[in-house]
Amino acid sequence: MDSIIINGGTVLEGSVALGGSKNAALPVIISSLLTADKCCYGRVPALRDVSTTLRLLSRLGVTIEKDVVAGGPLELTADKVQELEAPYDLVKTMRASFLVLGPLLARFGEARVSTPGGCAIGTRPVDLHLQGMERMGACIRQDHGYIEARARELKGAVIDLGFPSVGATENLMMAATLARGETVIRNAAREPEVAELGAVLAKMGARVSGAGGDVIRIEGVGELHGMAHEMSPDRIEAGTFMVGAALTGGNVLIEDARVDHIEAFAAKLRETGARVAEEAGGVRVTGNGRVRSTDVATLPYPGFPTDLQAQMMVLMAVSDGTSVITENIFENRFMHAQELNRMGARITLDGNQATVRGVAELSGAPVMATDLRASMSLVLAGLVAGGETEVSRVYHLDRGYENIEGKLAGLGADIRRVSRDD
Ligand code: UD1
Repeated sequence: MDSIIINGGTVLEGSVALGGSKNAALPVIISSLLTADKCCYGRVPALRDVSTTLRLLSRLGVTIEKDVVAGGPLELTADKVQELEAPYDLVKTMRASFLVLGPLLARFGEARVSTPGGCAIGTRPVDLHLQGMERMGACIRQDHGYIEARARELKGAVIDLGFPSVGATENLMMAATLARGETVIRNAAREPEVAELGAVLAKMGARVSGAGGDVIRIEGVGELHGMAHEMSPDRIEAGTFMVGAALTGGNVLIEDARVDHIEAFAAKLRETGARVAEEAGGVRVTGNGRVRSTDVATLPYPGFPTDLQAQMMVLMAVSDGTSVITENIFENRFMHAQELNRMGARITLDGNQATVRGVAELSGAPVMATDLRASMSLVLAGLVAGGETEVSRVYHLDRGYENIEGKLAGLGADIRRVSRDD
């Protein structure tokens, strides 16, 4: 199993290119199931979650003509889909696999999908996905760890989401494209990735309006067609490098980053004293060596993203005061706190709140990652900790960050990946 070893104390400087957005790419490539035509995708990140999705699509019968070689194109044709089951071994490693339910049900009238696993950051139910499908006339059964859904024809419906779930919004949008009549999704997730999926579905011939806002309307059509799409840059990766620059007192241009997609996060970063400036080529973040504490509360978009909470906690760990971090999206997303404390941080947890008392210095230690963003926070901590930090179980990192050690080394970090036999 691979580990990442970091010698702390370097300052990040230079410019870094972002990969395509993971959270946009997963639903977008799954949407290829909605048509028998070829769909071409550019800037698909070469990540483990993408290869898991491709394994799943291939298992269902999707032809993969060109595969993703770091930034290369991907061509998918779902003209020979015979298998309508997403098995446990694939869904358990990645919750986004559950998104095949909507497209399979809408196009083929049935689907059998294992209930998901994914990051160990809470119970993460799928009730909103299922209630929405039922509103559209699907008959849902849960049996032996699988969800079985059937519908001779999905019908448009008004669906009010109790919580603006990103995945439920995306699953229901895809299902609605081929349903009879109009579907209205209220209290929809407003994340840029939802807007991107809406744009892709529109390019495929779907009649979608409002994606990116809290009410999405979809008028079902008889069939969809192929198209080409280039993924947006990953805004969470952008935010991660922004924290890295602020944390190390560095100066980094994050190429093609868009502040308007992480506005709430950028505002918080500025409160800590970092300079965040938009330039023609992207966003430049300059740290000033001193970090002011600030409170953070994660919220659905456009609020502060939960996917940047762990990274922000590291910044607060070396701030000049006390910060309260409230996690409102996932109930169990503080698993990095214990490991950060092993590196000298002073973090106490109480339910969904973490109180972070800033310390002058972290110290390198062997630490273990427990989920994707938690792993990244430990790497960031290693950048400013005295001495060596070894982050093990980095397979979590590979789910969501492309060549992270190469990119950080390019910015001046002393970081390397090693393979361990144990
Ligand atoms: C997506 C992102 C993930 C991000 C999250 C929140 C992808 C591939 N993943 O995950 O990186 O952290 O949005 O921004 O895009 N919930 C229910 N019932 C449901 C569905 C969700 O109660 O049917 C709850 C979840 O348990 C969680 C909250 O809603 O507490 C948010 O989940 P959701 O927005 O669905 O996240 P994902 O789509 O899984």
